[in-house]
Amino acid sequence: MSKPQVFITRKIPESGIKLLQKSCEVKVYPKDQVIPKKELIKEVKQCDALLCLLTDKIDKKAIAANPKLKIISNYAIGFNNIDIVYATKKGIPVTNTPGRAIVDAVAEHTIALMFAVTKRIVEADQFTRQGKYKGWEPLLLLGMELVGKTIGIVGLGRIGSGVAQRAKAMGMKVIYYDVKRNTDFEKEFSAHYLSLSELLKNVDIVSLHVPLLPTTTHLIGKKELALMKKTAYLINTSRGPVIDEKALVSALQKKQIAGAGLDVYEFEPKLTPGLVKLPNIVLTPHIASATIEARSEMSVDAAENILAVLQGRKPKMLVNPEVYGKKLIKSS
Ligand code: GLV
Repeated sequence: MSKPQVFITRKIPESGIKLLQKSCEVKVYPKDQVIPKKELIKEVKQCDALLCLLTDKIDKKAIAANPKLKIISNYAIGFNNIDIVYATKKGIPVTNTPGRAIVDAVAEHTIALMFAVTKRIVEADQFTRQGKYKGWEPLLLLGMELVGKTIGIVGLGRIGSGVAQRAKAMGMKVIYYDVKRNTDFEKEFSAHYLSLSELLKNVDIVSLHVPLLPTTTHLIGKKELALMKKTAYLINTSRGPVIDEKALVSALQKKQIAGAGLDVYEFEPKLTPGLVKLPNIVLTPHIASATIEARSEMSVDAAENILAVLQGRKPKMLVNPEVYGKKLIKSS
């Protein structure tokens, strides 16, 4: 019997590829770029399992290209790049990679952005490299301390909780907003639940950790930015379109808020005009999960999700459990 065919849309760490190669025929898109749509469709037609990235738009057309496609395994936590409703309608399991290492990597990167922007690390680095440092000055590059300040976590999933845990360890107070309350979390972190508008009015750092959904698109726009304190900072390591980026540029230009730290962008990789000119913002190129540990774990998780489906098991990291309906399939 021929081996199942797995197509991977771009080179990922070897760990998962090796695992797949034990029982599958694995083809990796050879170029170091996002696979063009035409080529993606050609490959989808020929494979049993697709391992794709958050930069691949897996829409109706791509899914419909192969009625026999057995799984779409996304190499990411977020899955807004995939038409989940259509995949579910077609009975195709969609999986993601929400393992321990990616959660810690994104939480750590969030804290790194918080430090970078409040301590003005990037501005200070540029200042020093440009030879502007002429000696210690009492008022040079003053920033904000974090101890005793309040962080507002918007979206209390595992990453939001991870950020709260780290912020608490640094002596910060924790407020959160989510569509549902979590009283265990409130007890453990002495955290307070507030509505989004109350949270925005009361915190020193707003950190976004929601998935991208129609209800979270432009969750933070002109009106919400106007509620924030003039001294507050906005951090986003979730998905770009959660912020109305034009409104953010305008708020930062007017110094309506103190600063921002972004890892994701509304139209990435394009940046909204004006963003790069702002001194009070730190920008990273969607690398919050880019630790060796996380990317390697994601590779294994994405592979294991595929192997589970190919072997007739229900994958652990299933985004659309509805595809299994009431069928009693044991979770792997
Ligand atoms: C990264 O943004 C991810 O969703 O994994």
